[in-house]
Amino acid sequence: MDSDPFQNNEFERSIPFNPELLSSLLKNCIFEKNVIFKNVIGSTNVFLKNLAQQGYPEGTVVIADEQSAGLGRLGRQWFSKEGKNLLFSVLLRPGLLPNQIFILTFIFALAAIEAVQQMTGLGAMIKWPNDIYIREKKLGGILTEFAVQKGVVQHVVLGMGLNVNWNPTTEQKLLYPTSSIFAETQQAVSREQLLHKILKIFEKMYHEVIEDINPAERFYKKWNDKSAILGKSVVIETGKERVQGEAASIGKDGALTLICADGHERKFLCGDVSVKMNFSEL
Ligand code: BTN
Repeated sequence: MDSDPFQNNEFERSIPFNPELLSSLLKNCIFEKNVIFKNVIGSTNVFLKNLAQQGYPEGTVVIADEQSAGLGRLGRQWFSKEGKNLLFSVLLRPGLLPNQIFILTFIFALAAIEAVQQMTGLGAMIKWPNDIYIREKKLGGILTEFAVQKGVVQHVVLGMGLNVNWNPTTEQKLLYPTSSIFAETQQAVSREQLLHKILKIFEKMYHEVIEDINPAERFYKKWNDKSAILGKSVVIETGKERVQGEAASIGKDGALTLICADGHERKFLCGDVSVKMNFSEL
């Protein structure tokens, strides 16, 4: 018998996601009513943004086993193996201001980190502003998109790709050092149970956010505690410049404060920036 699970053909076989199981686990949750599952879709975010415009309610979830045009931040592709990982988007209609939407990205990441910790014991972290990292490798990413009309947020679509039962080292198209729960633990995890946990934990934090008049105050210590980059030397790329420095803190406005080589502090907002922790990343 082959003892290396990565060499084991059984493991390489994909197990289809079971949306009925997820729905049964999601009882009494805002995500209970509209669970939409697709075997293959272009992008769960694009699909859900369309539904949002048609008036679908808050709590609609779209999950796919495979995306043919998965999107990452900054126009990048999101690559995943069919039937192995979590690829999903949720629709929210919070009464938040556009400059508070970053809080939802952070609590979405915190929910995934907490769920992974509860199910596997792994200590994943947030790589500001939207990545989930484990030991300097990417475990997942979040794509947050929202529509604003006359200064009012109409809807928010939070999309997450999380590497679960995949062996990323066998793939060629990866942009970053990449890991998965399986690669870290050699244990396959139920994607339905993991997604259920993520959504339940997220729902609790989401209610705290929308009911609090100052939600950043409540959560900013948590996103600093779970930051993968604080105290580390990083390079920030804004499209116009590359700035190297030590990541010092992430503020209540979501901005990263960097201490540059000359000792000056610079603040970077979450927008169109990318962060590199090591030079093997593109
Ligand atoms: C990133 O790291 O740049 C963000 C990646 C986000 C990927 C997820 S997969 C589900 C959802 N649908 C998409 O097309 N993208 C997000």
